[in-house]
Amino acid sequence: MSLIDVRSVSKTFILHNQGGVQLPVLRNASFQVTAGECVVLDGPSGTGKSTLLKMLYGNYRADSGQILVQTASGIEDLVAIHPHRMLQIRRDTVGFVSQFLRVIPRVSTWDVVCEPLRRQGADESIVAERARQLLQRLNLPQSLWPLAPATFSGGEQQRVNIARSLMVEYPILLLDEPTASLDAANREVVARLIEEARQRGAAVVGIFHDDGLRSRLADRLYALESAQ
Ligand SMILES: Nc1ncnc2c1ncn2[C@@H]1O[C@H](COP(=O)(O)OP(=O)(O)O)[C@@H](O)[C@H]1O
Ligand SMILES: [Mg+2]
Repeated sequence: MSLIDVRSVSKTFILHNQGGVQLPVLRNASFQVTAGECVVLDGPSGTGKSTLLKMLYGNYRADSGQILVQTASGIEDLVAIHPHRMLQIRRDTVGFVSQFLRVIPRVSTWDVVCEPLRRQGADESIVAERARQLLQRLNLPQSLWPLAPATFSGGEQQRVNIARSLMVEYPILLLDEPTASLDAANREVVARLIEEARQRGAAVVGIFHDDGLRSRLADRLYALESAQ
């Protein structure tokens, strides 16, 4: 059974502040992802890989087509969804590791990481245990946990981002170049975490610039081509 079913999705950006220029990005994108499967979006820079992933997270809306997602209460079409319902789906169903951490000033690394599981109402002892495990596995020194990540290095911020997004065992996991700013040892940690997510049955959609990681994790590639 597909957890994600993308059907004929198209998207054209209209640049309103640049004379209404139209930028076709996706044309009839279609693919499915089942539980435990990892589909890697493939294609040169600018072909709409990040755009497609953002649509799966409800950040951008498709112009046409359907994005069907299996949630605990049934199948929902993200193209037609109400924004409030999308927030619930982000809380419970879809996790997203973005390319960059959106840093909230003054909030500690610990609270940034714990927040998604707290929001689900989990027991603080369970939240703390999971956060500790992830932060340790991702080699973030304990001395950094009370600090806000704003001043961290790119690689440290990315590891905070990954820990945060893996706190909840989402049925669907979206990853946009999660290892771009990491060293080899931490890339390996992230690869294992993604493999574990697949093993517990998550449907994973990823963008990986690293060829080794791509061939290791991908069950299938979905190739994007220029829509222009
Ligand atoms: N919010 C936006 N507004 C206008 N154009 C955008 C926006 N987001 C992405 N684009 C354009 O869409 C195209 C695809 O971008 P993107 O999805 O980031 O590609 P990729 O991730 O494959 O490199 C690019 O030409 C980019 O400039
Ligand atoms: Mg991209």
